[in-house]
Amino acid sequence: MLDVNKIREDFSVLNRRGSYIPIYFDSACMSLKPDQVVKVMDDYYKEGFACVGRSAHRSGVQATKKVKEVRGIVAKFINAKNENEIIFTRNTTESINLFANSVGLSKGDIVLITDKEHNSNLIPWLFLRDKIGIIVKIIPCNGDGTFSIDNFSEMISGAKIVSVVHTSNLDGVTNPIKEISQIAHKNGALIFVDGAQGMAHKKIDVRDLDIDFLAFSGHKMLGPTGTGVLYGKASLLEKLTPFMVGGNTVSNSTYTNYEFLGVPDKFEAGLQDYAGILGLGEAIKYLNNLDWEEIEEHELKLNTYLTEELKKISKIKIIGPENGAERSSVVNFYIEGVDMNKIAIMLDEMANVEVRSGRHCVHSWFEDKKIYNSLRVSFSIYNTMEEAEIFITNLNKIMKIL
Ligand code: ALA
Repeated sequence: MLDVNKIREDFSVLNRRGSYIPIYFDSACMSLKPDQVVKVMDDYYKEGFACVGRSAHRSGVQATKKVKEVRGIVAKFINAKNENEIIFTRNTTESINLFANSVGLSKGDIVLITDKEHNSNLIPWLFLRDKIGIIVKIIPCNGDGTFSIDNFSEMISGAKIVSVVHTSNLDGVTNPIKEISQIAHKNGALIFVDGAQGMAHKKIDVRDLDIDFLAFSGHKMLGPTGTGVLYGKASLLEKLTPFMVGGNTVSNSTYTNYEFLGVPDKFEAGLQDYAGILGLGEAIKYLNNLDWEEIEEHELKLNTYLTEELKKISKIKIIGPENGAERSSVVNFYIEGVDMNKIAIMLDEMANVEVRSGRHCVHSWFEDKKIYNSLRVSFSIYNTMEEAEIFITNLNKIMKIL
């Protein structure tokens, strides 16, 4: 069983004095960060580490070595073949933009996405549609939000790229990536996976799932903000043309010409967030010390409890499958005719419960379904059953006065 009390000791915010301690149920937006992550970032600044890949002095060499180590840690974490398949970015959104603008799409190329994609995996494609004339097709999910292999199979012919979310931030559903990648590859398409939501909740093995490209962010997986990763199979990354260029992407330049470095350097223009990258490495080390089965078991317990309690409140409609076991660490719901922002603010004021309300950056889905907004509880390894009970008690109080 996951030792949640021990885990909680590592998160200063959950032990702070002189201020309230939040019941933090917004990990799908941003996870909390353990002190170990904050410490390595602090050390980077305090101990005088320097530029990476540029300076020959000891501090520069030391920083270069540490960032290289993290590249290896990330590669191992997702079972990439080698560390050069890891490109550091600022976040998932940047990784998707990098891919979309580097993969060499042209007018008429078809990109398939699902009807539940976050803006980060929708807008870059719509933007390219408007800019160069690609065709964006939307795969409708089943009524309960699960992926429809039938709809996908009907639409795959002629597609160049299939870009889908791994675990949805809207309803917590995890897509059958292995099956999707098999169908995509059989039809000559590349598969790109938005892994932002799932990384701290489920083990992702890019080779087992046969993913061509994967994007994820540090800030949702116990790591710092401003850190992200684009993974790509080495042979495919070689074919990409850099999107952002400049410092540290070239081996030489003249006033009229330049020579690009290899992968991954040519995709990492300018000075990077080295403290953040070290923090990301530490976050992965933290996750590596936990047991994935125990994490899933813990989330299942919390999700099942919340789901069953919410089902007792007649006005509440849960987004996604009825069964909490199919929704990872997400419980998202709405009440017809009620602005869920108000409930979120009341929960915070009454009991320090921090949830996210709104459209969760999936505006397109809410527009299509004509749902105004929703309230999402999203939890992580540090949340307890007691916190879930406090949430339910206070929600019930609110329902009485609504
Ligand atoms: N993807 C983030 C969320 O779901 C922003 O809250």
